[in-house]
Order: sequence, then structure tokens, then C-alpha cells
Amino acid sequence: MNIRMLRAEEQPPMDLLLLADPSRKLVEQYLSRGQCFVGESENGVIGVYVLLPTRPETVELVNVAVDESCHGQGFGKQLVNHAIEQARMSGYKTIEIGTGNSGVTQLALYQKCGFRITGVDRDFFIRHYEEEIFENGIQVMDMVRLSQDL
Ligand SMILES: CC(C)(COP(=O)(O)OP(=O)(O)OC[C@H]1O[C@@H](n2cnc3c(N)ncnc32)[C@H](O)[C@@H]1OP(=O)(O)O)[C@@H](O)C(=O)NCCC(=O)NCCS
Repeated sequence: MNIRMLRAEEQPPMDLLLLADPSRKLVEQYLSRGQCFVGESENGVIGVYVLLPTRPETVELVNVAVDESCHGQGFGKQLVNHAIEQARMSGYKTIEIGTGNSGVTQLALYQKCGFRITGVDRDFFIRHYEEEIFENGIQVMDMVRLSQDL
């Protein structure tokens, strides 16, 4: 998979972005404030992530997603490691990420890529999303926050 910045004239891969966050409104906000990267194979775009500057020297990795037909082949890890390197090269000192309490794969992946848990934002998904969300048979209620120094 080749990872590159989305060009200004290109449409972001909305279906992929919505896999990571069901709120189109939030995804559009992230896109307007952040930098979108896409991962391409010979079949086209199969991965995406957005880097969102949040505070001075801190950037958040949001909307990491891989096409469902390509899960479990290392593409997620490639995207997360690319994002970390991109943030480091851009001069950020800290990269953060958040995921739902039910995100077993995400929590494994992020920790394998060097992130450490910094806290839990309880009831985040209840406060910010109108509909109940379930993943792995668990209601998504709390946001687990992770970060790593660059
Ligand atoms: C999360 C997501 C991006 C992962 O993509 P992927 O391409 O399937 O991930 P990878 O193949 O790179 O695998 C991730 C790593 O987690 C590990 N992993 C996954 N589940 C695990 C588990 N239950 N226990 C231990 N390790 C696990 C894998 O073994 C792999 O590590 P390894 O390379 O050291 O073996 C993908 O599942 C996705 O797009 N999900 C929907 C969108 C989403 O939820 N995004 C995150 C928003 S916070």
C-alpha cells in the first residue's frame, strides 16, 4: 500500500472515513481542520487517516480506517506508523488518539504502535452521538485516550 496526502482537487473517501466515525458532521469538521492521507493499492484507495492539529506541538490521529475486505493484513499498522512519522517530521512533540471502550482491535493496534493510555473520557459517546453504537457486542460509551511522545 502506498500512502500519500489527499490532493486538494480530490474527494475524500467518505465511506472509509465513516467506518471510523459514524458522524458525517464530525468527519467533515475533522477534514476541514486536518490533513487527510490515503493508502492506495492496485485496487484504489483502501485506507485513510486524518491528522488534526489540536494544541501547540500536539496533533491527533483521527479516522484511521481500512476497507473491510482488507482487514488483518497489516494495513492499519502501516497507516498508524505512517501518521506517527508524518507528525514527527512536521515537528509535533505529541501525537494523541482516542477510541471507544469496545475497540479491541484498535486498542491492540495503537499499543503495538507505541501509544500508552492516558485516560478515559467517560460517557463521551453518549454525550456526542444521538444513537447508541455497538461494537463487538459492547456498547460504545467511553473514549479511551492514548498518546505518545515523538
Ligand atoms: C482498526 C483498523 C484500522 C485496523 O486495521 P487492520 O488493517 O485490520 O489492522 P492490522 O492488520 O494492521 O492489525 C492491527 C494489529 O492489531 C493486532 N490485533 C488485532 N486484534 C487483536 C487482539 N484481539 N489481540 C491482540 N492483537 C490484536 C493485530 O495482530 C495487528 O498487530 P500485528 O501486526 O503485530 O500482528 C480496522 O479494523 C478498521 O478500519 N476498523 C474500522 C474503523 C475504525 O474503527 N477505526 C478506528 C477508529 S478509533
